[in-house]
Amino acid sequence: MVTRAGAGAAVAATAVVALLSAALALYRPPLDAVLERAFSLRKVHSIKDMENTLQLVRNIIPPLSSTKHKGQDGRIGVVGGCQESLRSAPYLEHSHCRETAGITYTGAPYFAAISALKVGADLSHVFCASAAAPVIKAYSPELIVHPVLDSPSAVDEVEKWLPRLHALVVGPGLGRDDVLLRNVQGILEASKARDIPVVIDADGLWLVAQQPALIQGYQKAVLTPNHMEFSRLYDAVLRGPVDSDDRHGSVLRLSQALGNVTVVQKGERDILSNGQQVLVCSQEGSSRRCGGQGDLLSGSLGVLVHWALLAGPEKTNGSSPLLVAAFGACSLTRQCNHQAFQKHGRSTTTSDMIAEVGAAFRKLFET
Ligand SMILES: *[C@@H]1O[C@H](CO)[C@@H](O)[C@H](O)[C@H]1NC(C)=O
Ligand SMILES: *[C@@H]1O[C@H](CO)[C@@H](O)[C@H](O)[C@H]1NC(C)=O
Repeated sequence: MVTRAGAGAAVAATAVVALLSAALALYRPPLDAVLERAFSLRKVHSIKDMENTLQLVRNIIPPLSSTKHKGQDGRIGVVGGCQESLRSAPYLEHSHCRETAGITYTGAPYFAAISALKVGADLSHVFCASAAAPVIKAYSPELIVHPVLDSPSAVDEVEKWLPRLHALVVGPGLGRDDVLLRNVQGILEASKARDIPVVIDADGLWLVAQQPALIQGYQKAVLTPNHMEFSRLYDAVLRGPVDSDDRHGSVLRLSQALGNVTVVQKGERDILSNGQQVLVCSQEGSSRRCGGQGDLLSGSLGVLVHWALLAGPEKTNGSSPLLVAAFGACSLTRQCNHQAFQKHGRSTTTSDMIAEVGAAFRKLFET
């Protein structure tokens, strides 16, 4: 079905090219019409690539089965959620938390953790600061919330759970408090020692920009920077500004400089690389970008990374399982955005997008 949709789109795009060509013949061609034509041709090419990669995502999705026990399809941990603290606010001049006070602290880890459940994880844990815990619990009875991140024994507390977790999502609503960041550093080191996959987003990326050695060469890490976070990382690792005319090359270079760690640069189109391959995800979304969309991406990626590693490279046709997982999470997030926007238009929020996860998942991966 999706193949047919792809073919239909290709035919439509060809028609657009034909129309443009006709237009070019009738009128003197303005330069942007020529560019538009070249762009359409490239789009046809990428639709085929996207369809091939979506097929690989379908290959890694475990079948639903009544013989499995709870937890087999994924136990995901989200590390993030800081308290809204007046104590720290005056000092945190550049704090992300302060800029978006009251929202990101508890909203982001909630969105990431609930997205993991909606995509198909069996259990979703949140490891957050003590003051954030009751708030996150109140959002949802479905999450297991551990108020440990600001505790002196935070690393031990989380480490106890690591043997039972399949992947960690680090950073949503984390903030930049020194104590929390030091604890998160310990948690990352403990996860690496146990070979647990980690998805790093938001202020987790801020930590990585301060200390790239934390994830340097760790083959089970995926970084999901937005434009700003990407520039900061790039500057920290490659000691120079990003070449904005060469997004593909920039993502490839950052991945390679980090020892082929998978990098997902979110944007109008998402650019993904594992240092060897570069993928572009341009699944249709919408013009509406709401805060929290990145949390849906990181949470669903946590589950898909686990599934992809479980399935192994045979199922991904030789492509990196992490890259295929990342492509799946990007496509899903965009499809959720597209569907939510069709219903809610301008008033679309992240909760509307999360409500679409089931239908979007079926449309993309179960057709
Ligand atoms: C699998 O890999 C082969 C060889 O690289 C390629 O021809 C084929 O199109 C790939 N299949 C998919 C679904 O990507
Ligand atoms: C990363 O991948 C590139 C391209 O395949 C390879 O040349 C390089 O040696 C790899 N680097 C590491 C650290 O594995």
